[in-house]
Amino acid sequence: MRASSAEPAPLGLGIAGLGIAGLGMAGAVMVQAAAAHKGYVLRAAADPHEAPRAAFAQDFNASAYDDIGDLCADPAVEVVYIATPHQFHAPHAVLAAERGKHIILEKPMAMTLADCDAIIAAVERHNVHLVVGHTHAFDPAVRAMRALVAGGDLGRLGMIHSFNYTNFLYRPRRPEELDTARGGGILFNQVPHQIDIVRLLAGGLARSVRAQVTALDRSRPTEGSCAALIQFENGAAASLVYGGYDYFDSDEWHFNVGERGAPKTLDHGAARRALMKTSDETRARTETYAYGSSKAGLPPHQPHFGITIATCEKGELRASADGLIKYDASGATEYEIDRGVGMPGRREVLDDMLGLLRLGRPSVHDGRWGKATLEVALAILQSTREGREIMLEHQVTA
Ligand SMILES: NC(=O)c1ccc[n+]([C@@H]2O[C@H](COP(=O)([O-])OP(=O)(O)OC[C@H]3O[C@@H](n4cnc5c(N)ncnc54)[C@H](O)[C@@H]3O)[C@@H](O)[C@H]2O)c1
Repeated sequence: MRASSAEPAPLGLGIAGLGIAGLGMAGAVMVQAAAAHKGYVLRAAADPHEAPRAAFAQDFNASAYDDIGDLCADPAVEVVYIATPHQFHAPHAVLAAERGKHIILEKPMAMTLADCDAIIAAVERHNVHLVVGHTHAFDPAVRAMRALVAGGDLGRLGMIHSFNYTNFLYRPRRPEELDTARGGGILFNQVPHQIDIVRLLAGGLARSVRAQVTALDRSRPTEGSCAALIQFENGAAASLVYGGYDYFDSDEWHFNVGERGAPKTLDHGAARRALMKTSDETRARTETYAYGSSKAGLPPHQPHFGITIATCEKGELRASADGLIKYDASGATEYEIDRGVGMPGRREVLDDMLGLLRLGRPSVHDGRWGKATLEVALAILQSTREGREIMLEHQVTA
C-alpha cells in the first residue's frame, strides 16, 4: 500500500490571485507555500510594518498596502489569506467577505462563537468561500490516517493520543499573546491544531470535554500546559496534552524533525535563554519571524504537530518523518507518503480553496467546522474554570 498525499492542484482551471493579510510568522510561511503552488499567483499583501511589505513587493513585483481595506479593494485579488493576530480575524474576515473576496482564515477562526457566527453569516450573505486553516489537520499524514480509519479496514477507532511539547511560551511575544482574555496562551494558538486533528480522525462530532489547563510561569501569565479528554459521539476518545515550557521537546520522539519538516538539533531551554537577552519582545518578534527576515527553503520532511497515535481494533497508526507507520499483529510497517510538489500542509489548504473555487468541491474546514473546533478550545477553558465536564453543542461531521 502507498498512502496517498493530497491530489495535485487542479491546474488549467484558472490561477487564483492571492492576497496576504499579515506578513508575520504565519503569513511568511504561506507566502512560501503559495509561491510554490502552481494554482496561485501572489498579487498583494497588507501589513502595518514597512520592512516585510517592502520585501514582499520586491520579491513578487506585487502591491503591498499598509491597510487591509486596500488589499480587499484590489481587483487582482480573488482570495485573501488572513494571518493577522487573532483579535482581528473576525473583523478582517467580515471585511473581506463584504468586498467579495474568498477567504482562507487562520486558526483560531475567531475568539468567540458569536464572532464565528458573524463570519459565517457574512460569507453566506456575500456568497464567497471560506476555508479555516491552516491547521495540522491538513498535514498529508493526518489525511492519510483519516482515510485509513474511515476506510474501516482497521476496525473501530477506540482512542487517539495527541501530545506536543514545545518552546511556545518563550518565543518573543506581542503583549496580548500572554493574556488569555485577549486570545493569548496555547488555547487559542496551539491546541486548536490538536483539536482539529483529533476531530478529523474521529469524524468530527465531539460530545464532551473534561480538561485542566495551567499557567505555571507568573512572568508569562497565560496557559502554557493543557491536559484534556474529549469524548466523541461514536464512542472514541481523545487525550490531548500540550506543554509549551521549553523544557522537554517532543520532536526528540519524532525523528528529530521540527514542526514544519526541517531537521532539528535539540537545544532544550534555548528559547528561554534567548528571551532573557531580549528587551523589546514585539520588535524581536517582527525581526525574527516577519516576511523577509529569513530565507529558509522548503523543508525536506513532512510537517507534523507533536505525536498523534490512533488506536483502532486491528492496529495503531502514527506519522513518521516522511510517511505513516502502521503497527498491527504482523509488526510495524512504514508507508511512504508521496511528498508531491510544494509545501505539504499549507498546499492542502490552498488546494481546498481551489477545489471550492474551480470545482465546487466542498472543504471539511468550512466556517461551521472552524466554529466547532473553537467550541472545544473554549470548553477546555470552561472545564478548567468550573471543574466539570462540558457538553458540546456545535459539532459537525468531517
Ligand atoms: N497555522 C499555523 O501553523 C500558524 C502559525 C503561526 C501563526 N498562525 C496564526 O496566524 C495569526 C498570526 O500569527 P503570527 O504568529 O503570524 O503573528 P505575528 O505577530 O508574527 O504576525 C502578525 C502580522 O500581522 C500584522 N498585522 C497586525 N495588524 C494588522 C492589520 N490590521 N492588517 C494587516 N496586518 C496586520 C503584524 O504587523 C504582523 O506582521 C494568528 O492568528 C496565529 O494563530 C498560524
